[in-house]
Amino acid sequence: MTRVAVLGGHGKTGRSVRAALEDRGATGVPLGRADWPDLVGALRGCAAAYLIAPNLYPDEPAYVAEALAAARSAGVGRVVLHSVASPYAPAMPHHLGKAAAEDLVRRAGLAWTVLQPGAYLQNLDLSGPVRIAYSADVPFGFADLAEVGAAAATVLLEDGHAGATYELATRVATVRELADEAGVPVEVVTPEAWAATDGAGLEPREREWLQAMFGYYDSHGLPVGTLPLRALLGGART
Ligand SMILES: NC(=O)c1ccc[n+]([C@@H]2O[C@H](COP(=O)([O-])OP(=O)(O)OC[C@H]3O[C@@H](n4cnc5c(N)ncnc54)[C@H](OP(=O)(O)O)[C@@H]3O)[C@@H](O)[C@H]2O)c1
Repeated sequence: MTRVAVLGGHGKTGRSVRAALEDRGATGVPLGRADWPDLVGALRGCAAAYLIAPNLYPDEPAYVAEALAAARSAGVGRVVLHSVASPYAPAMPHHLGKAAAEDLVRRAGLAWTVLQPGAYLQNLDLSGPVRIAYSADVPFGFADLAEVGAAAATVLLEDGHAGATYELATRVATVRELADEAGVPVEVVTPEAWAATDGAGLEPREREWLQAMFGYYDSHGLPVGTLPLRALLGGART
C-alpha cells in the first residue's frame, strides 16, 4: 500500500488529506512534533510527503527547509506544499512566509507540486451570528476542506502534476452571501474590537498577523478561481 507522509497531519487540514488518501487506497502517515527529532526515519518508506506548516507558524520557510532536507535524505520522491492563495501579498506576513516556502520547494531538486487554497468554508461557523473583523461584502474564493483533501490526494498519488501550482477554491462568495444563505446575521467589528475580545488570548505576534490579514481582507477579500479545483476533482472521479 502506498504510504504518504502528512506533516502536520493531526490538524484539521491534515485529517482531511489523510481521509482522502484512505478513500483512494493509500495510507496517510501523520507526522507532528513528536516525529521531528527523527524526521528522516519517519519519512523513510514514504512515496510522497504532504507539507503542512502549523497555522501562523513563526518561521514557515525554516520548517519547510527542514522537511525538504529530511525528504531528500529519506529518498521521498515527491513533495506537495500546502500553501495559500495569494502567498506573495506583502501586507500579510504569514502569506509571505508561504511565498518563501514555495520558492524553497521549487528549488529543492525534488518532484514538487504547490497547492494554494483559499480561506476554508469551515472557518465560518454559520450555525449562529457570524462575527468578522473585515468587510462582509468583499469576494473570497472559499475552499471546502474535504475537496482540498481530495485534490491533495490526486496530486500526491497521480502523475502529471510535477512542477504545477494550483489555486483551490470551491466557490466564490462574500461572507454576507454565505450568512444570508444560512439565515444568520453578520456582525462586523473593528480589528481593534476583535483584538480585545476574540483575539485577546493569542500571542501578540499572532494577533498582529491576523489583524494584518483582516486589513487586507477588508480592502480586497481573497478572490480565488474555482477551475483548477474542479479539474482536479473531475480527474479523481474518472
Ligand atoms: N484556515 C484556512 O482558511 C487556511 C487556508 C489556506 C491555508 N491554510 C494553512 O493550512 C495550514 C494548516 O492549518 P491547520 O489549522 O490545519 O493546522 P494546525 O491545526 O494549526 O497544525 C497542524 C499540526 O501541526 C503540528 N505542529 C504544531 N506545532 C508544530 C511544530 N512546532 N513543529 C511541527 N509540527 C507542529 C500539530 O501536530 P502535533 O500535535 O502532532 O505536533 C498540528 O496538529 C496552515 O499553514 C494555514 O496557514 C489555512
